[in-house]
Amino acid sequence: MSSSSFLHQRQQFQQILSNPFRITPLTSTSTTIKPSLISLLFSRSGFLILLLLIIILGVFFPWINFFGNSSSSSSLSLKNQLKWKEYSLAQAVSFVAKNQTVIVCAVSQPYLPFLNNWLISISRQKHQDQVLVIAEDYATLYTVNQKWPGHAVLVPPAPDAQTAHKFGSEGFFNFTSRRPRHLLHILELGYNVMYNDVDMVWLADPFPYLKGQHDVYFTDDMTAVKPLNHSSELPPPGKKGRTYICSCMIFLRPTNGAKQVMKTWIEELKGQPWTKKKKSNDQPAFNWALNKTVGQAELYLLPQAAFPSGGLYFKNETWVQETKGLHVIIHNNYITGFDKKIKRFRDFGLWLVDDHASESPLGKL
Ligand SMILES: *[C@@H]1O[C@H](CO)[C@@H](O)[C@H](O)[C@H]1NC(C)=O
Ligand SMILES: *[C@@H]1O[C@H](CO)[C@@H](O)[C@H](O)[C@H]1NC(C)=O
Ligand SMILES: *[C@@H]1O[C@H](CO)[C@@H](O)[C@H](O)[C@H]1NC(C)=O
Ligand SMILES: *[C@@H]1O[C@H](CO)[C@@H](O)[C@H](O)[C@H]1NC(C)=O
Ligand SMILES: *[C@@H]1O[C@H](CO)[C@@H](O)[C@H](O)[C@H]1NC(C)=O
Repeated sequence: MSSSSFLHQRQQFQQILSNPFRITPLTSTSTTIKPSLISLLFSRSGFLILLLLIIILGVFFPWINFFGNSSSSSSLSLKNQLKWKEYSLAQAVSFVAKNQTVIVCAVSQPYLPFLNNWLISISRQKHQDQVLVIAEDYATLYTVNQKWPGHAVLVPPAPDAQTAHKFGSEGFFNFTSRRPRHLLHILELGYNVMYNDVDMVWLADPFPYLKGQHDVYFTDDMTAVKPLNHSSELPPPGKKGRTYICSCMIFLRPTNGAKQVMKTWIEELKGQPWTKKKKSNDQPAFNWALNKTVGQAELYLLPQAAFPSGGLYFKNETWVQETKGLHVIIHNNYITGFDKKIKRFRDFGLWLVDDHASESPLGKL
């Protein structure tokens, strides 16, 4: 999820962030509020009754679209915001899980195009119903739930939206540091969880690759070509004394071993906070956590041919040809910047939002 600059809508969203209760249309599709709703809102008691109703229904049944079909909607209006603000991770996970399993990502507003691209690819594998978007700002929470009720949740407090996006920054470190806490929380609720960065595209269903009953499954972020039959054990440490496992795609079972790895990851992040000199992200801490929990957790390295790093897939055409048909998830890393990532996806026919937005549960954004 290495990335970059802001999109132009930023200011509009900041206004909403600073006052989540404003009746502010967020999307260009917004039209007018229904006349009946307006007259209700203008009568004081009507407004109070409505507010109470929204809060009660929103708290207890946040997934119910109790105002009916929102196609005639007032877009991201008061009702929408009130409804989702209190939606908890426990409610969200139990709503989306299938077979006790959820697929999660953590995104903020500038990543919405990548989220949509990823979702199209997941829909093609028929796993979109299991997707839960962990929104890292209120704009994302409301936008996703407006179009796809119940599939986004925000775990407060929302990180500072203005500092969270620049790869290598302290804000980005803080943002990604929330990841192991979200994952641990889901494990403690008793669910299997697959985490993905959203600069990924599924070409096939990854679930058949999660063989055996291991606690933690992950992929290698190295670019060197390995034999097809490489070991599924944690590889030996590299130059910096640690492995280069990617924190971008992780599958966890709700076992003590997996929870221990998440707890150790959280500790490692605390123990090695961001500094100007090191400009780290969450990945080294994940690798140290794996190193320290060997023996406490069953680890499983997924096959490189199925889950290559971007440094291999996008840079070694020979290898791509040799392993044709074996690729499962492609990660657009080893490059930073939204524009560069989008261009590279386009060049490889993996930017699906231009022509296939209708396949996304979010539609065209
Ligand atoms: C349900 O999950 C289990 C493991 O958690 C897996 O073995 C099984 O194939 C899954 N079933 C379906 C229908 O996805
Ligand atoms: C990151 O988190 C630390 C510790 O919570 C905090 O002191 C710092 O201000 C945060 N930085 C940014 C840019 O959000
Ligand atoms: C992979 O295959 C080669 C050649 O067939 C063999 O020598 C090697 O031991 C195998 N490696 C593993 C990890 O199974
Ligand atoms: C853990 O890290 C240490 C220090 O780099 C290294 O010596 C050791 O081999 C690593 N252990 C594993 C299981 O990778
Ligand atoms: C590219 O892939 C080929 C075929 O697997 C391999 O022999 C070669 O070493 C790779 N090149 C680089 C630069 O890693």
